[in-house]
Amino acid sequence: MPLLLAVLMASPLSQAEDLVAVAIVDGGIPAPLTSVPGSPDRGRLIVRDISKASCLICHAMPIPEEPDHGQIGPPLEGIGSAYSVPELRLRLVDPKAINPETLMPSYYRIEGLTGVLARYAGTPIYTAQEIEDVVAYLATLKAD
Ligand code: HEC
Repeated sequence: MPLLLAVLMASPLSQAEDLVAVAIVDGGIPAPLTSVPGSPDRGRLIVRDISKASCLICHAMPIPEEPDHGQIGPPLEGIGSAYSVPELRLRLVDPKAINPETLMPSYYRIEGLTGVLARYAGTPIYTAQEIEDVVAYLATLKAD
């Protein structure tokens, strides 16, 4: 049974497409946000994109060609073994659903947030397809 059904709606002022409705079930988001499967290769590029709140600001990732990795969040090496795909999707879409105090931005939510940079107001950081691409990439990061 769904623990919580969160339906995210774009605000009327949003220039972006309406957000896809997202259902949180048993600590994850089981349904993909798009019908196009995520691309791990695209995801690996997206996570480094500094214009999209790069994960590397806060996390170490197995991307050796990138010199600077943050330490605010836990290292993400092996994260694809620690969490299922639905759990990874929720951690990107809305980490504040897990820890309301987290410093990690919500990459696919626009309402009820604080400290949002002006350029992100009314639009999610990632598109629905970018969420799927990054989830697909994270799922490849298996512990040995
Ligand atoms: C501003 C800092 C920041 C940014 C940017 C950030 N995160 Fe995080 N992230 C955190 C922190 C801090 C945590 C620890 C969990 C908490 O705070 O509740 C975390 C936790 C996580 C977790 C769960 C890790 C675990 O071991 O439980 C995943 C997965 C994750 N982040 C992925 C990402 C990805 C992928 C990106 C980029 C799309 C990203 N994060 C961007 C700060 C950040």
